[in-house]
Amino acid sequence: MKKNVLVVGGGGREHAIVYSLAKSPEVGKIYCIPGNAGISRLAECHGNIKATDLDGVVAFVRSHPDIYMTVVAPDDPLAAGMVDRLEAEGFRAFGPRANAARLEASKSFAKDLMKKYGIPTAAYEVFTEYAPARDYLDNCAYPVVLKADGLALGKGVLICEDKAQAVDGLKEIMLDKAFGNAGNTVVIEEFLRGFECSALAFCDGKTIVPMTTSQDHKRALDGDKGLNTGGMGTFSPSYKVSAAMEKRIYDEVLLPTLKGLIAEGVEFKGVLYAGLMINGDDIKVLEYNARFGDPETQVILPRLATDLFEIFEACVDGTLDKINVEWTGDSAVCVVLASGGYPEKYAKGKKITFGALDDGVIVYHAGTAFDEEGNIVTSGGRVLGVTALAPTLAEARDKAYANARKITFENVHYRTDILKELV
Ligand SMILES: Nc1ncnc2c1ncn2[C@@H]1O[C@H](COP(=O)(O)OP(=O)(O)O)[C@@H](O)[C@H]1O
Ligand SMILES: [Mg+2]
Repeated sequence: MKKNVLVVGGGGREHAIVYSLAKSPEVGKIYCIPGNAGISRLAECHGNIKATDLDGVVAFVRSHPDIYMTVVAPDDPLAAGMVDRLEAEGFRAFGPRANAARLEASKSFAKDLMKKYGIPTAAYEVFTEYAPARDYLDNCAYPVVLKADGLALGKGVLICEDKAQAVDGLKEIMLDKAFGNAGNTVVIEEFLRGFECSALAFCDGKTIVPMTTSQDHKRALDGDKGLNTGGMGTFSPSYKVSAAMEKRIYDEVLLPTLKGLIAEGVEFKGVLYAGLMINGDDIKVLEYNARFGDPETQVILPRLATDLFEIFEACVDGTLDKINVEWTGDSAVCVVLASGGYPEKYAKGKKITFGALDDGVIVYHAGTAFDEEGNIVTSGGRVLGVTALAPTLAEARDKAYANARKITFENVHYRTDILKELV
């Protein structure tokens, strides 16, 4: 019998997860909380419940006995213990429990784990009080990086060129509480140079299986200018990471992380994501996430040849060692179409027109909704992710841009330089 699945979340990542689950012959009906306009073509969306509403989601699962498994995709509900709450009532859930999601939700926990188990990361100190942190800034090397300990919507990291900036930044985090309680503890760490890359892996608590590599573009504007965003585009595989380097990432980062967690008595089930800085032969972990990345998922899952539902099942059951996770030979590029002004102020409710799109193109919805007449309109900063698949990265890039140009809404903004370096 087919199995019904609930996916928690409502962005491009969740659309990609729903899209892949919908292809599984084992999956029946899909529910999504809250979902979005694009997801609603594949899943029954419940936009009245928030992804962060633990009581609401648990009550929904309780009142829908046909739900076989809940997939919790975003960081906040994972950190808050949504999986723990579901399991406590006997429900099946994919994602780490709160004690494992701490790997993302507490940067000091992650750094201490890395130090203890010899996982390469930037040199650092942890402070829980302002005065000693402030003193530390008198003698440290610059630039220096300040990180609020907790989840801060990707805004809790400040790169400070000099002492004056660092003193201001520290005050903002620890005294003015610009990121709330996330800034009660601060990590001050060495500034690293190199290129960034994301290494995601499926994990069942005992076995860790790397996914293919990918690379994000965090800044809003071409040439890595402008403000930091949730991500403006991705490609996979990362052509900058050789097969030998991939093996080292597994041996020196992913496997030791899993072993460290096991030694600490933490069972990590779900997606483990290491954000890396690579400089020549040097690999260092910038941070961990305890979930799929957005928009990395929008280039990774379309390249997955294995049934995603089967992998989720194996992660929950602890049978990942029995599964062959395989990838297609395609390359994927995702260009994010954002509302003009994002990540600052932007308009909502702008009507979107989709042209006739080419084969091998998937438009993942992030911030979309229906208006009263049933038109699809913008409802968020990042609106759509246009993913193209092709035999090479350069072809995938050209196809992604050719199709992105066919989609219009007022004041649309996207980066035009993703993979520009490839001929
Ligand atoms: N030690 C570091 N050296 C240089 N850049 C860094 C360092 N740590 C973080 N960054 C930059 O800041 C970004 C955000 O930091 P990260 O640790 O990934 O936190 P978050 O994603 O939670 O905001 C990274 O993607 C990277 O560009
Ligand atoms: Mg990050």
